Amino acid sequence: MPRAQWASRMGFVLAAAGSAIGLGNIWKFPYISGMNGGGAFVLIYLVAIALVGFPIMVAELVIGRNAQASPVVAFGKLAGAGSNWKMVGWLGVLTGFIILSYYGVVAGWSLNYVLMSVCDFLADKSPEQISSLFDKLYVAGDMNLFWYALFMLLTIGIVFGGVQKGIERWAKILMPMLFIIMLVLVVRAIFMPGFVRGVSFVFAPNFDKLTAGGVLEAVGHAFFTLSLGMGAMLTYGSYLGKKTDLVKAGATVCALDTLIALMSCLIIFPVVFSFGFEPNQGPGLVFKTIPVVFSQITGGELLAILFFLLLAFAALTSAISLLEVVTSHFIDSLGWSRKKATLIPGALILVFGIPSALAGSGGIFDSWKNIIGKNFFDTVDYLATNWMLPLGGILIAVFIGWFAPLEKIKEEFQEGSKFKTLFVTWLWAVRIIVPIAMIIVLLYKVRILKI
Ligand code: TRP
Repeated sequence: MPRAQWASRMGFVLAAAGSAIGLGNIWKFPYISGMNGGGAFVLIYLVAIALVGFPIMVAELVIGRNAQASPVVAFGKLAGAGSNWKMVGWLGVLTGFIILSYYGVVAGWSLNYVLMSVCDFLADKSPEQISSLFDKLYVAGDMNLFWYALFMLLTIGIVFGGVQKGIERWAKILMPMLFIIMLVLVVRAIFMPGFVRGVSFVFAPNFDKLTAGGVLEAVGHAFFTLSLGMGAMLTYGSYLGKKTDLVKAGATVCALDTLIALMSCLIIFPVVFSFGFEPNQGPGLVFKTIPVVFSQITGGELLAILFFLLLAFAALTSAISLLEVVTSHFIDSLGWSRKKATLIPGALILVFGIPSALAGSGGIFDSWKNIIGKNFFDTVDYLATNWMLPLGGILIAVFIGWFAPLEKIKEEFQEGSKFKTLFVTWLWAVRIIVPIAMIIVLLYKVRILKI
């Protein structure tokens, strides 16, 4: 079978933006910005997107399109079949497997909140009752399992459909809807009393509150939010033809991802300030605080439905790309049919995620924390985001910058691009800036570097 291709460039951009735009943008970015004091953190994040995220984004697209293959085969093609660089591909597949297993649990919470919103859960409840619903959900193992399994089945169903008929088609439906919902919510936020304060919290740089740890957090997040370091963009790039401008496409995806992250803040902080909440609530921000606020405003029931739908759509398009990395690996490396390569790995991931879904509800996957220090969910999250993704990113950058055949890389970068002259700048960013920044982030994230 000839390799699958995107039907249109727009389809690719939406699918790649769908991968990048996820829980990281709507759930995580606002709360880590809030915890790090806002403005200055956001500014550092923007710089990190440009100097660290964007170069690696283009590097992954370059490898993927050149090899027309998923990570393991792609590294084999570029480095030579017997080369150890294939391990970077393996690391990517394993990382996709692990991330999807717990990402699906958080995504399941958003499905749960969609149904709760539709069932008008805000009615007649005190703020304490509303925010305590999340704590109840967290410890309800069976509910977590149910929503997680449902979310995984949706993801598997879409990837099963293939590149054009599954991934691209759903990206073209879900991404515009996500954007429209986002716009509606931002417009609503403009009319809230806390809007100006929210905007200045996000955009006025206040360096007093920024710590060195906050800087590294921003760099690490710039990387995570763009789905880099495990070959997701590489895999999507492998379905591209030679006419696409990789530099422009990469920049567009970075810009869309950043736009959505900033828009999320413009929804969440006005809402938080309008009702006297603190911005530094941590991970409970979107599930515990936002619903309370929706319960206080006219039309809040509808806004809650829209908000949690938005979260679910964003999570779904990211989960699709996580599974696609694993699926395309089995297609390319073992010659499996797409159906088999979706169903078998999909089922394995589903099973592997069960302990994460049960982690809040007592039992071994919870009490695991008495010995390991984190429950099962937090353990796999820690391994994947703090160790595996930064490590994958460093290795991809070092490979492209120092070991891959330079002529080939140059040709691929410039093919179909209006930005041919950027090659040298990009190359040095990949050679020097990215590895140094990511090594420091890795050492900090795994607490070898303490600041
Ligand atoms: N970018 C996603 C988000 O912001 C999360 C993510 C990280 C991801 N790495 C990935 C998604 C790889 C797909 C593939 O939520």
